[in-house]
Amino acid sequence: MKIGIDKIGFYTPHLYVDMNKLAEARGVEPAKFTIGIGQSEMSVAPLTQDPVTLAANAALDMLDETDRAHIDMVLFGTESGIDHSKAAAVYVHRLLDLKPEARAVELKQACYGATAAIQLAKGHIALNPDSKVLVLASDIARYGLNTPGESTQGAGAVALIISANPRVLELDDETVYYTSDIMDFWRPVYSNTAYVDGKFSNEQYMAFFKQVWEQYKEKSNRSIHDMEAICFHMPYTKMGLKALRQILDEGNEADQQRLQDHYQTSTTYNRNVGNIYTGSLYLSLLSLLEQAENIQSGARIGMYSYGSGAVGEFFSGVLAEHFRENLYLDRHRELFAERKEISIAEYEEQFVKTLPTDGSTLELDITKDPASICVTGITEHMRQYTNKNK
Ligand code: COA
Repeated sequence: MKIGIDKIGFYTPHLYVDMNKLAEARGVEPAKFTIGIGQSEMSVAPLTQDPVTLAANAALDMLDETDRAHIDMVLFGTESGIDHSKAAAVYVHRLLDLKPEARAVELKQACYGATAAIQLAKGHIALNPDSKVLVLASDIARYGLNTPGESTQGAGAVALIISANPRVLELDDETVYYTSDIMDFWRPVYSNTAYVDGKFSNEQYMAFFKQVWEQYKEKSNRSIHDMEAICFHMPYTKMGLKALRQILDEGNEADQQRLQDHYQTSTTYNRNVGNIYTGSLYLSLLSLLEQAENIQSGARIGMYSYGSGAVGEFFSGVLAEHFRENLYLDRHRELFAERKEISIAEYEEQFVKTLPTDGSTLELDITKDPASICVTGITEHMRQYTNKNK
């Protein structure tokens, strides 16, 4: 039985900053951000969007009645969750009107959570072929104003339906993973920004890639030649390219050209959204599928997932026969076209705004947020959500 990605949706907030202007404001050469880091724009979440609403908005339009009847598991990968106890998946389950006979759980391992969710979903479907699993990867990446990580922030979510007989990507059985307890990036429960040893995390990202790539080749008997493209976890678009370059000499000239060309295409959305942590790998897959005109059904895509701390995984899948017909290119094109640029001063003002933590009530103005699902405020420590279009 083939199991894999049946649908893939995406959402990012409607506000962004231009990285050239951020560079000017921070007194660095714009080329450092646009070429050295490889980011052009960075999504900024208003207070009316949090990881719950981003995920719900990513899934909302792609669900139909058949999905609602068959989804019996909601797995939410995030590293910027809103509660230490309650799973973000439970809020989304309600906001999307899913049936109550379902499991809803949050998974955490830095940027790796959604990959674990996909593999767990695969096992669930192998035992329950009629089930569908909704996997959500949603985050707001915050390193802090004026920090080295600031240029690698972002906000957004990817929603995936995992099912039997998938219409987008059939996952291969071979998958390999690797865990090692290291401190390259972490966020203690008392901090709303991440701690990171940037250089060390870059080195580990590269080393884990080499590690799992070697394991994958051995387990699958495949080589670089079998990969039409490789998608990478993408904290910033230059990062995956550095990892890819480590193995390019295993291929001939045609392999090298193909993989580098597809890599560039796979950065299209990430370059304009920024780091969305758990969703970054899947946003790069979405960029590739929606933007590469020369990619055919039957092609094999490699996927490298990395979550600091650290867990790495390499897996692959084969594009389904009519995958292109099952994408939401127009919707995503519209999402980007309707975004609004804000100034650096507005972004800084936005960055320091938070919901009250003293139990007081705050009502937010959601009229300026075009998203269907928004945070409307907080009362007695409980976030309030609405779907405007219901
Ligand atoms: N034109 C073009 N490139 C330029 C440049 C210019 N004017 N100025 C600098 N650069 C290049 C540098 O050469 C470097 O490229 P290289 O890595 O290929 O050598 C790149 O821009 C970044 O410069 P660097 O000085 O290393 O940046 P930094 O120390 O300010 O921080 C990170 C970069 C990624 C370490 C930092 O943003 C960070 O900590 N991010 C969060 C952690 C992260 O994303 N980790 C990834 C693994 S999950």
